[in-house]
Amino acid sequence: MLAFIEQMARDAAQICLAATENSGNFTVELKNGPRDPVTSIDRRIEDFLRQKIRERYPDHAIIGEEGGRSKDTSGWNWVLDPIDGTVSFMRGQPGYSISIACRKGMDGVAAAVYAPVMDQLFTAEKGKGAWLNDRPIRVSDCSEMNKAMLGTGFACMREKLTNNNLAVIPQIMPEIIDIRRMGSAALDLAYVAAGKFDGWWEFILNDYDVAAGILLVQEAGGEVCDFSGGENYPQAGIIATNGKLTEKIRSFMPEPDWTK
Ligand code: 2AM
Ligand code: CA
Repeated sequence: MLAFIEQMARDAAQICLAATENSGNFTVELKNGPRDPVTSIDRRIEDFLRQKIRERYPDHAIIGEEGGRSKDTSGWNWVLDPIDGTVSFMRGQPGYSISIACRKGMDGVAAAVYAPVMDQLFTAEKGKGAWLNDRPIRVSDCSEMNKAMLGTGFACMREKLTNNNLAVIPQIMPEIIDIRRMGSAALDLAYVAAGKFDGWWEFILNDYDVAAGILLVQEAGGEVCDFSGGENYPQAGIIATNGKLTEKIRSFMPEPDWTK
């Protein structure tokens, strides 16, 4: 199954790269206003992935950012984000990825996150490990905030939240080495898995942004939790770390009722 997922990710990446080669060979539509664009390439890739999965696993359900959820008859489901980081893709920046996860119920079985511009293919298989371009990856072993390189994102800015990530930044920034903002939650999680980030958090995300990346982090020896330390992620916030910084990062997040 992982070889099948890898091939789909590579084929989808070719569609992205071909579309950006001639300085933007795609159209843009707005989903919920000017801050939430989708391109014709997002839709084309999701259609491509759905078709491949349907051919090979006709009874598996498919949940995708652009195409909704198909009926589940088998307990197996695929969670797809055809382009995670659409805004980066549109501007010809490297911070976007194709995110594909296969799950049995809610449990990740196999997953890939592929960043086409950087040719970084992150994969994971339940119980077997995680890889970057076929080399095994592990989370970092950093345990001190003053040595930590963290990732985050501002998906919360598209929502009308009173408590949001802007309040966390001035608190956490002086305590750590630096922050990176890749623009793709799936890629951020892959970077935690590969030890490129020591930890990462976001306030608001959807299942399809994180399904593949969560399996990567877990299989690379890391930890994922919500802002209360529980498993209600990404709805109640999401933190992914190397396992050594979870409580330290969590201490900067708002109180449990922050969504109200
Ligand atoms: P997208 O590019 O597929 O929309 C950037 O911080 C990350 O947040 C990206 O993974 C982006 O996914 C996602 N994102 C942006 N706005 C969001 C919103 N309102 N709700 C959930 N996820 C969002
Ligand atoms: Ca997304």
